Amino acid sequence: MAQPTFEELIEVKRDGGTHSVAEMDAIILGYACREVPDYQMAAWLMAAYLQGLDADETVALTDAMVRSGSVLDLSSIPGVKVDKHSTGGVADTTTLVLAPLVAACGVPVAKMSGRGLGHTGGTLDKLESIPGFRIELSTEEFVAQVRDVGLAVIAQSPDVDPADKMMYALRDVTATVPSIPLIVGSIISKKVAGGADAILLDVKVGSGAFMHTEDAARELALELTRVGKASGKEVHCVLSDMDQPLGMAVGNALEVREAIETLAGDGPEALTELCVDLGARMLVLGKVATDEEQAERRIAQAIADGSALEKFARWIEAQGGDPRIAETPSLLGLSPHVREVTFRDSGFVKHFDTESIGRAAMRLGAGRERKEDAIDPGAGLVLDVRVGERVDSGDRIATMYAASEELLDTAEELLVASIEMGDSAPARQPLLREV
Ligand code: URA
Ligand code: CA
Repeated sequence: MAQPTFEELIEVKRDGGTHSVAEMDAIILGYACREVPDYQMAAWLMAAYLQGLDADETVALTDAMVRSGSVLDLSSIPGVKVDKHSTGGVADTTTLVLAPLVAACGVPVAKMSGRGLGHTGGTLDKLESIPGFRIELSTEEFVAQVRDVGLAVIAQSPDVDPADKMMYALRDVTATVPSIPLIVGSIISKKVAGGADAILLDVKVGSGAFMHTEDAARELALELTRVGKASGKEVHCVLSDMDQPLGMAVGNALEVREAIETLAGDGPEALTELCVDLGARMLVLGKVATDEEQAERRIAQAIADGSALEKFARWIEAQGGDPRIAETPSLLGLSPHVREVTFRDSGFVKHFDTESIGRAAMRLGAGRERKEDAIDPGAGLVLDVRVGERVDSGDRIATMYAASEELLDTAEELLVASIEMGDSAPARQPLLREV
């Protein structure tokens, strides 16, 4: 048979058919080399979103995405390279804490990170709130820095997994993001192309995550593990709670400040707990600890003896930022208009609409409504309460920072509406839902 046209490939998926490996290659590689226009790829993505991809198709998708660009060679860096990826959340500052923390314990971290998506923050945006910090390094500089300092975190280079960048931008504007096979292809292809030996995946579940229910998050976790293994990588997956922001700070400079406090041992409880847990798993995956108990002791020691914070300072300096922020986080400026938001009623904090809290921070200037929007690095909010706490009217919900009073007005409305009050304390959700 002659090579099918792209229109015929869309038809196959539209009608619930199954693609061969050769067809999947034609779709992904054809789009990545710009032979296929956006409108045809958008139609195929919607067909794939609605009809799904089976187990073999998801592996073929992932493999084709990896081959759309180059694969980083990290073999000149000694040790097991462990990468960690979160499916995206609010106040998820873990990468900023974990990268220097596990590097201080001897696990090399060579990480490529992304920008914020929708209501969730991105590590690159947070790092760019540090004046002078360079998120773009050549592959040689990147590898050399990991060898010398123990870690580097950079923007994904344009020739690594270009299919993901192009497809993600299209999915973002065609309502095709929350599809398990498309998310799996996106995440695993990026990690494989990034050259890691082992991958730790933090799948978020709850009102601030892309997966709202535990069933959906579990299905995603199982697929990520299966496709990661099929791609020859050791994959470890945890499900963690995103029914409330992980840390208390939502916003770029604010989250860097909070990461520094956490590395110094003064961070918020949930963020600290998740970082210690994930960090210990990375030490075991990286083969510098034999079991998680021993690993947790190493992690706790690196926080207590200051070596994690010292590693953070060396990292920031290596990438052009001011290392003094490690000692004096207030060097990171905040936006000039400040407002304290308070509870109007007494009672228990019953539920947060975490996505709305993320959107409130976005409104303040911490995120983008459209791709071309600029971020205000000093904008955002710091919460004062967690779900389950008893509060009185007049107690503080949060302190907000923005460039103008008008921004504070709209964000305040969103923030207040995102909190549901009750007469009794709700049942406590464990932070780690499942491993
Ligand atoms: N995170 C990713 O990297 N890709 C997705 O598709 C969704 C979340
Ligand atoms: Ca409190």
